Amino acid sequence: MKILVIGSGGREHALVWKLAQSPHATAIWCAPGNAGIARERLAKNSSPVECVSIGAEDLPNLLAFAQKKKIELTVVGPDNPLALGVVDLFQKNGLRIWGPNQKAAQFESSKVFAQRFMEKYGIPTARAGTFADPATAKKFAETLGGKCAVKADGLALGKGVLICSNVAEANKAIDEILVNHAFGAAGARIVLQEFLEGLEISLHALCDGRTARLFPTSQDHKRADDGDRGLNTGGMGAYSPTPFLSDAELRKAGEAILNPWLRGCAEERIDFHGILYPGVMLTESGPKVLEFNARFGDPETQVYLTRLETDLVELLDASVNGTLDKIELAWSPQAGVCVVMASGGYPGNYAKGMVITGLDASGALPNTKVFHAGTALKDGQIVTNGGRVMGVTALGRDLKGAQAAAYAAVEKIHFDGAHFRRDIGAKGSARVPRADSGVAPESFRFHP
Ligand code: AMP
Ligand code: GLY
Repeated sequence: MKILVIGSGGREHALVWKLAQSPHATAIWCAPGNAGIARERLAKNSSPVECVSIGAEDLPNLLAFAQKKKIELTVVGPDNPLALGVVDLFQKNGLRIWGPNQKAAQFESSKVFAQRFMEKYGIPTARAGTFADPATAKKFAETLGGKCAVKADGLALGKGVLICSNVAEANKAIDEILVNHAFGAAGARIVLQEFLEGLEISLHALCDGRTARLFPTSQDHKRADDGDRGLNTGGMGAYSPTPFLSDAELRKAGEAILNPWLRGCAEERIDFHGILYPGVMLTESGPKVLEFNARFGDPETQVYLTRLETDLVELLDASVNGTLDKIELAWSPQAGVCVVMASGGYPGNYAKGMVITGLDASGALPNTKVFHAGTALKDGQIVTNGGRVMGVTALGRDLKGAQAAAYAAVEKIHFDGAHFRRDIGAKGSARVPRADSGVAPESFRFHP
């Protein structure tokens, strides 16, 4: 099978790496890819993965390329091309593509849509309202004592959520988005949610329009610095499984979220083929959905795909075809940890072009894989080319073992200004591990 992967981050490197292991994959291209992706080879015929310089949002050229190369499966990594309708465009032209269509991608591209859907179908979420008028929004914020999250409706490069702890902050956030248009058209409406306390985890479910297959739990680390301090980032590291839910609790969370979600999709004629990734707060009154994403998480994907034992081509094929209820989904019982190494200054301004050394030494360690994100090849050397530079990922017998392995590999990699958190997985390893948590047994499948 000839495969095209769209995107250029650590998530896409992990997708390419896992797809390249499949005996079904005969050729893989990645648009636009990165220096690590360009080093991958296919298990079946040793041919190299080829990066093509087409942007992930350049829909006409992606289509033309897929037609020219007779691509048999296109795999979409990031949210923007999904929101722009890349799936609809490819399907209209008779091409097979994995990911939700534009209507289905609204779960991520419109927070107002997602919030109203959750309320209509009884999915546990924060108390919330959706507003276009600042005065009405402020009245609602006051009923919450100003403790709330104010969210721009549309995609805002992950920056559209303002957390407020009093009425003055809430009023300011509402004005920023609805009056000063800080996020442009993406902020024509807002969702205002009560502030939820608890531990935040990531859930992922692979869907085929009728069936949802729940993955083990994972946890991202969104703040730049240790102890969840500093600015919000795309994600500084992740691990899986988390010890916070037993299998029975995970199943219950899946039932509470995915069953009504599938019912709602059927009712609204939303044909969702792809990953549904709910961000979930584990509150005292149970798990509550903060937001939906309609794609794989980054860096969650790096740990999920290193733990995944099932052939990814077969899985994505089943997600496109609507046969996920028949497929086996197997996970390594080992724990996975991914530590993101970022450019100094990220998520603010940072320099590019720093030479990266130690990649071969770290890659030679057992049970370790370095997924590239912002890297490029320059004069025969691999250099930094983005904020998140790479995700150093390792498996271990348990979470502590995986942490030790990932940090041993991180120690071998050097570039000027490298910044990484030293506490990836710390919340999980501080807990007494639960014997049964997180391997997502075969039974975790949901139908409406
Ligand atoms: P979102 O993009 O909606 O996931 O929001 C970004 C981050 O803001 C989340 O990962 C949470 O850490 C935080 N957040 C969002 N909504 C809430 C909420 N209702 N209560 C507490 N924290 C929230
Ligand atoms: N892990 C955060 C995200 O992918 O949005």
